[in-house]
Parts: sequence; structure tokens; C-alpha cells
Amino acid sequence: MTLLCHGLPAWEALQTHHREQMLSMDLRAAFAQDGARLASLSMQAPHVFADLSKNLWSAETERLLRDLARQSRVQEKRDAMLAGAAVNCTEERAAMHWMLRMPRDGGLLQHNAVRQAWAVAMEEALAEVHETRAAMLALAEQVRADDSITDIVNIGIGGSHLGPEVVVNALEDWVDTGKCFHFVSNVDGHELGHVLRKVRPHSTLFLVASKSFTTAETMLNARSARQWFLDQGGSEDPAAACSIDRHFVALTSNVQAAAEFGIRRTLGFWDWVGGRFSLWSSIGLPIAIAVGARQFQAMLDGAHAMDAHFFTATMDQNLPMRLGLLDVWYRDFWNFSSRCIAPYSHGLRRLTAYLQQLEMESNGKGVTRDGQPLAVKTAPVIWGEPGTNGQHAFFQMLHQGQDVIPVEFIALRDGGKYLGAHHQSLVVNAIAQAQALMVGRDGEGAEKYCPGNRPSTFLLLQQLDPAALGALIALYEHRIFVSGAVWDINSFDQWGVELGKQLARQLNARLESGDWNGVDASTLGLMQRLTATQAC
Ligand code: F6P
Repeated sequence: MTLLCHGLPAWEALQTHHREQMLSMDLRAAFAQDGARLASLSMQAPHVFADLSKNLWSAETERLLRDLARQSRVQEKRDAMLAGAAVNCTEERAAMHWMLRMPRDGGLLQHNAVRQAWAVAMEEALAEVHETRAAMLALAEQVRADDSITDIVNIGIGGSHLGPEVVVNALEDWVDTGKCFHFVSNVDGHELGHVLRKVRPHSTLFLVASKSFTTAETMLNARSARQWFLDQGGSEDPAAACSIDRHFVALTSNVQAAAEFGIRRTLGFWDWVGGRFSLWSSIGLPIAIAVGARQFQAMLDGAHAMDAHFFTATMDQNLPMRLGLLDVWYRDFWNFSSRCIAPYSHGLRRLTAYLQQLEMESNGKGVTRDGQPLAVKTAPVIWGEPGTNGQHAFFQMLHQGQDVIPVEFIALRDGGKYLGAHHQSLVVNAIAQAQALMVGRDGEGAEKYCPGNRPSTFLLLQQLDPAALGALIALYEHRIFVSGAVWDINSFDQWGVELGKQLARQLNARLESGDWNGVDASTLGLMQRLTATQAC
């Protein structure tokens, strides 16, 4: 049994440090006393500049957090992931999403320390990754060149939806096909129905995206789409002009299930790619169709630059490490239960939803990798909306509410197509909010009082291009790995989600059979209301 993190000497040292030095910390005073605070608590990582100086910590806090990382063997766990070990222990799988970004010559493998950790057998996996991607990019280019296809409908949920959706939205300025992209995830038929009203079978390509090819929502949506396609004149005959073969592609690691469903064109990937880490795999086909092979590659290269940084930079200059440790600091020593993510970018409007799955599904766990109950808190609630919209909704509570909620601002130096007044106003607002949270307001009456001293992190990208976006997403993946490693949890499984899926299956079956034996009274009451003849 491994020692739980709260039993480590560094944990106790951090508790003392928090109680004796940090509880009374005032950010305004910290800046006044230390002219070098901004420089020492900010850094440039690949494609991402991070200002960490407006956080409730100090150089001493970071030093103690690095001790905690060493004592909880974060670097060894990171290197085990890199060596292809089965770090997803409950499912006995490796977690090698970073390999999907690795150049054929190994890229970061050129670093000696990394080469030592790298298992030779992984060479084969890397070769397969490149072969599969070549097939995916070739298909993307073929679809891009095919003017008869005007609409791409991606049917998938969770990681098979959020990643492609966030990236296609974010890279709007880079989309150079005239095609329309639609994302259908919810089992609520309105979503699919809404899309189907806008498209025609002979000009639509359906992508059925599901790692497992068993997810109930995706399978039902895919079946309904298929039926609509046939009802509208499509054909099961592969020789027909408007055939399933030509208009449906499966993106899955369960090729057999896709074939049984009747889809023969399949792009695969591997069980070592977790669903929420899969946008870099065949699941990224809609992205590749939208921006083309070259820009898809640029996104992978940006992510790889962040991988190389994470796997090789020293802990004090390693941004995913610093952020992951900051997350533990806030969750467990300050007891902050949520983190607000505010991207000041319309392109990043779906980023928070994507990061919710990434962080909460990865680290929302209560036991260690060897099954010991944790006495400390793990994933915070991740929430937020793009700026400046959020300012006119929930920022009031961030400024004057009684809970302290760290905010993460994400902004762009270069606004792309919409420079000038719009972009200036956008970025200035982000900086002003970070400033307002810190400086607060006093002396104008109790109602207008804003306490200030509220923490925030500011991430700045040069522009929202494929490389920067790739780096940003990889930064979050690794940061989540770091906090998960300190807590010693398995960040790569999701058994809680499975419970809901299982119970929904059982309730559907009970509806069919009418057998309600053993169902709890509350659930039974709701089911009876659902099936009652009179309206509720
Ligand atoms: O929601 C749980 C989950 O298992 C996610 O981890 C995953 O991204 C999603 O369902 C979809 O799974 P699949 O790609 O297998 O359809």
C-alpha cells in the first residue's frame, strides 16, 4: 500500500505554511513588497504565456509543493506513462494520447532522459499511429476535395464530441472548406432532428464517433440517422450512388461493432487512447476535414511542443507541473471547491465544457490507485463561460460573493480577423477583471465594497491558431495528470459514469417488462409518473 498524500511530510509542511503564512496573505501587499513577483511567478511555455502571480501563493509555497510532488513521485508516475506502463490500472491500459502527437522520428525522444524511459516495443505503436493518421488525413483530403459533400454530421458524445467540437469552433478562421459542420451528441431527438431538417442524404457525410461503439446515446442517434438516410432515398446497396458505404464513416476502436452496424468505412484507434483524450486520433476526422491535413498536423505539433516541455522541463519551470500543483494547493489547503474558466474568445466558447469532462471525469475520484479511500478533496467543480458574457452574469458573485473562486482567464494577443476595437475591448476587459478581483474597492459604502485579494491565473496565447490550441489543450491534459498523481488516483477511468449507463439500461428494460421489483420508492414514483395516463 502506498502512503496517502496527506501522510507525506510535505503535506504537513504545506498545512503549517498555509496556516502561519498564507492565510493572512494579501496580493496587493505582496506586489508592493516584491517588485520581482510578476517575473518570478510568470513564465513562457510553448505557445502559452502564464501569469501565475495573482495567485495566493509565494515562491516558498511552490518550493513546498515541489517537495510534495517529489514525495508523491509525480515525476516517476509521469515517466511510467511515457514508458507505456498500464497507468490506467483498473482497466489495465496504458495512457498514451501524447504519442498521437509524436513525430515519426520521436521528437521529444531526442532528450536523453526521455529515451531511457521509452520502451522499445513502443516503436511499433508509434509506426501504427503514423500509418493510421496518414489514412485519416487522406480521407479528410478526399472529403475536402469532394464538392458534392456539403455537410458533415458528427454523431458522438463525451470525448467523441467535445474535442472535435471545441477545435472546429476554435479554428473557425482556419476552416477553408465551404462545408457545414454539425455536432449531434444528446439523445434528445430534437438535436438530431434539428440537423436532419437542414441536410440532404446525397450531400451529407455522417461520422459515427464512438470509441466503444456501444454508447447508448450515440448508437440510438446513429440508428435514427441511418433510418432517416434510407427513408430519404439512401441505399444499403454499396453500388448505389447514395449508399451507406459512401455516406457513413465510423471512428472507433471497435471495428467489429461498426461492421455489424453496417458501416464498412472505419478509422480505428487504440484502447490506450482515453475517450476524453481522443481528439488527436481518428476521432479528430471532422477537424482534419475542416482545416486540412497541414493544419491538423500543426495542431499536433503544438501539442507535442507542450508534451516535450512537460516531459523534460525542470519542475520549477514546467507549466503543467506548476499549474497541477497550484490546483492541489487550492483544493486541499485553501479548500476552494470550484474553479472558473473564462476564455475571452468566442472561438473558445466550448472550451469550458470540454475541460469540465477532461478534469472532472479524470480526477473526480475518491480512492487511490490501490483502492484506499482518500481523506483529501480531489477535482474541483470546473465551470465558466466566455468573456465578456460572464461579466454580465456571474462575475458579480466572484467579486462580492462569500466564496472565493479562483478564475482562469484565457486571452489572445492577436484577435485574428476581428482586430481593432472589438479585440482591444475583449482583452482589456479580461485584464481589468483580473485586476478588479485582486485590487477590489473600498471607501464607497458597504454595498459597493469589493474585498479584492481574489486569485486568478492569466493564460495568454499569441493567437488562436492550430499550434497554440494544440499546446493549450495538452497543457490542461498534463496539468490534470499532475494533480491526479499527487492524489495518487487513476485519472484515466470513469466508473461513476458507468453506473448511470447501467441503471438507465435497467430502467429501459423494466419499462419493457413492467417488472418493478426491488426498485427504490423514489425512482419507482418517477417512473410511474412518466407512464401514467394523465398529464402531470
Ligand atoms: O461519458 C463517459 C464516456 O465513457 C466518456 O469517457 C467518453 O468520452 C464517452 O462516454 C463516449 O464514449 P464512446 O466514445 O465510447 O462512445
